[in-house]
Amino acid sequence: MISGLPLPDLRTIVSEIAEEMRDRKDRGEVATYIPELARVGLENFGIAVVDGDGTIAEAGDSDKPFSIQSISKVFTLTLALGKAGDLLWTRVGREPSGNPFNSIVQLELEKGVPRNPFINAGALAVTDALLSCHPPRAALGEILSFIRAAAGDESIFIDENVAESEKRTGFRNVALANFMKSFGKLENPADLVLGTYFHHCSIAMSCRQIAMAGRYLAHSGRNPETGFNIVSARRARRINALMLTCGHYDGSGEFAYRVGLPGKSGVGGGIFAVAPGRASIAVWSPGLDAAGNSRLGRMALEKLAQRMKWSIFG
Ligand code: DON
Repeated sequence: MISGLPLPDLRTIVSEIAEEMRDRKDRGEVATYIPELARVGLENFGIAVVDGDGTIAEAGDSDKPFSIQSISKVFTLTLALGKAGDLLWTRVGREPSGNPFNSIVQLELEKGVPRNPFINAGALAVTDALLSCHPPRAALGEILSFIRAAAGDESIFIDENVAESEKRTGFRNVALANFMKSFGKLENPADLVLGTYFHHCSIAMSCRQIAMAGRYLAHSGRNPETGFNIVSARRARRINALMLTCGHYDGSGEFAYRVGLPGKSGVGGGIFAVAPGRASIAVWSPGLDAAGNSRLGRMALEKLAQRMKWSIFG
């Protein structure tokens, strides 16, 4: 049983959503500013939902690894809060930006302190905080180990081709990092922060792996399989609050309005979402909308949340 509903209902709903998404023509556009992402087929669609008992409902390309991109920022934020605690909030804010994920405008007005940890500038500040504890290779090793342990899956890897591809064309991020450095807001060399950031964005995971890794955020900080607390219930609640308000950049309001769940998108077309106390969810469709969020991914989550009555707003 999930939330009082017999399991076949969730499985049926997930399959029906995948079927409906498979036939849709309005799939958005794949990201092209990272050339390696432009090679991914628009026809892909995957969905995986994991409940607290470890039951998985999945459909479509739920087992196919893709570039998680900004979804990695949820995991780096979790790790950085574990190291720096609330001091992290002296380096990055907690307010929605209302701007695109790679915007530089606000950063100048706010003197190099990014609005939130999910826009690129904020994620660079979080990566910088991790690098203050470890050199880049060890920091990346820690990020990957954390994700593998949370997912219970050692096969999760960094796609070096994607990392190289972004490094070659990541001019905006280079600008953001140098801008922050000029305000004295990065502790480590900008090129090391960027290299580590590009690599954690290039982690490849399937919907199933993301949903498994994110279980702790659906269950008050606890991995429901091992019973191990990854973060406190309070921290999980707060990370979820940030996903709800900032997880889709200038599309966060629309996502909350339509889906009603905390969620984090990635420009690879993935969205990780949390139905608190119920399920950890991942969807993938590489076509994006104008804000850089998966078009069918959001649509699928809207249908799932509606049919399961999972919106946090009742
Ligand atoms: O820094 C970038 O532009 C990418 N590595 C990540 C951006 C991203 O995923 C935005 N999400 N929708």
